[in-house]
Amino acid sequence: MFRSNDATEFTRRGMIRTIGLGLSLAALPSFMNPEMNHISKNALDHGEKILPVEEAELIEMQKFIEDCLLANKEANPQEAVKEVLKKGISNPDLMLKAIGPPTEAGLKIFLRSKELTIFAASWTPQMNLIPHNHLMWAYIGIYTGREDNILWEKRKNGLEASDVRCLFAGDVATLNTNAIHSVTNPLPRFTGGLHIYGGDFFATERSQWDPETLTEEPSNGEVIKDIFRKANEQMRRVKQID
Ligand SMILES: [Fe+2]
Repeated sequence: MFRSNDATEFTRRGMIRTIGLGLSLAALPSFMNPEMNHISKNALDHGEKILPVEEAELIEMQKFIEDCLLANKEANPQEAVKEVLKKGISNPDLMLKAIGPPTEAGLKIFLRSKELTIFAASWTPQMNLIPHNHLMWAYIGIYTGREDNILWEKRKNGLEASDVRCLFAGDVATLNTNAIHSVTNPLPRFTGGLHIYGGDFFATERSQWDPETLTEEPSNGEVIKDIFRKANEQMRRVKQID
């Protein structure tokens, strides 16, 4: 159901890793003092900040984040972080239980730092994300629903679709630094994925491409937030019609 090329790699794993999480979404820049949580100083010596913890039972998710932070300091951080995510997403039902079922489009942010960003992203039924880049390596691990990716490449005459990937619960996708993709949730229900980026996702000025003309436009965290806001508005309109 999935293939790999230079830009993207997908894997499915059978291992189980227990995750217990439910950290606060809150406003993007609102982070708690690292001194106030259970992440070890060793994992936080690069100034990483963890979002507020709502329940004491979240220590397992904190362990997951700590594992990601430590992996990101290894000789090959991209591969090491991928292994942590593969283990974490290998039981999607546990991950779904830990994160909580998605109820609207949005990002549940667990970690933001210069080196690493970790969040859960929820797509409303049949939501689309136009072509965009990240300008940093990225992983997507699906824990509920399905996410179809079109991979794009810059060619002489502009952007061209180069490949398609269908991700199901338990799949992990790798997007390299130069990857450009657009995303569709083809299902009549929510899709949820855990995303890890090798940098500060929200502080990076990036590009997106108009879905009809494929004209390149600037994008950033605010633009992404607006896309989610509109998806939620559309979902509410559909519910009213129904
Ligand atoms: Fe993306």
